[in-house]
Order: sequence, then C-alpha cells, then structure tokens
Amino acid sequence: QARTLFTHNIFLIGFMGVGKSTVSDYLSTILASPQVEMDQVIVDKEKMSINKIFEEYGEEYFRNCETNLLIELQKKNNQIVSCGGGVAMREINVQEMKKNGRVVLLTASPETILERVKDSDERPLLRGRKNTEYISELMEIRRPKYRAAADVIVDTDKKSVEEIAEEIVAKL
Ligand code: S3P
Repeated sequence: QARTLFTHNIFLIGFMGVGKSTVSDYLSTILASPQVEMDQVIVDKEKMSINKIFEEYGEEYFRNCETNLLIELQKKNNQIVSCGGGVAMREINVQEMKKNGRVVLLTASPETILERVKDSDERPLLRGRKNTEYISELMEIRRPKYRAAADVIVDTDKKSVEEIAEEIVAKL
C-alpha cells in the first residue's frame, strides 16, 4: 500500500555497491512509484553491456549517455531513479536532478562495498582493482561531489533495505 505521494523524482546516488538498485526497487514498491535503473536503461538503449560500452566507445561516451538520460527523465515525475555511481560527478547532471527532484546519497564503508561488488563482473572501473585500498581512494575523490549533490544522506552499513527505505522517507 502506498503511504506517501511524492510528486517530484527521487534520485539515489552513491558509490558502486552501496545498494542503490536494491533500495530503489523497494522504495518504488512502498511508494507505488515507477522505478528507473539508469544503467539498465542505457544497456537496453545501446544494446550493449556496460563493459562493452566502455570498451567500444570509452567512458566519456557512457557519461554522455547518462547526461542525456537525465535530461529525458525530467519529462516525468514521481519516479525513483537509481543512478550509476558516477552520475553526481558531472555538475550538469546534478543541476538536472535538482530541477525536479530530491537527491538521496547512500553511503557504506569500503569493506561493505567490497563485499557487495566482489562477485560482479559488470563494473569496468573496478576491474582488477577490487580491494578496499582502491575503493577507499576512489571514494575519497568522489566524496565531496556526492555530498554537495545530496539533499539527504543515509548510511547503509548494517541496515536492512526496509530500514534504509524508512530512513529515506522520514528524511525527505
Ligand atoms: C560507475 C558505476 C556503475 C556504472 C558504471 C560506472 C561509476 O553503476 O554506471 O560502471 O562510475 O561509479 P553502479 O553504481 O550501479 O555500480
């Protein structure tokens, strides 16, 4: 049963493996809002895996796909959008999200992240670098931009998806 009605979009941002997709899945159910998984939409549009897009066209091309998709998403509201981990790095992306949305940053420790990404082959940026040192390093670089973009910050370490979703709804 839907409890709250949000008219704007909700964008979940944060590092790879922080649980954006899982949480957006759950949120879309309890809020009865459509869900948009950005990586998946891009894969479907390009008819290519994320790895393949990076290999064939390079990261910049993928980043442009993300920006174009964010612009397109402004046409609708009430969506729960699970962003790729790099979305908040571009200022124009942040501006697009803020036009008609609230931005929720999910965080987790490098140890938790490693645990969640260690069996995934679909993260070109972590290929051959799945260790807490590298994850911490990249996280440090990204942290200021993630924080600057966020309206709400929710830590996900040792919390269930239900608890995380509750916290988001309470803080929004
Ligand atoms: C990326 C995160 C990935 C995906 C791509 C780049 C990043 O999404 O968009 O591999 O730059 O952090 P997830 O955060 O869903 O893993």
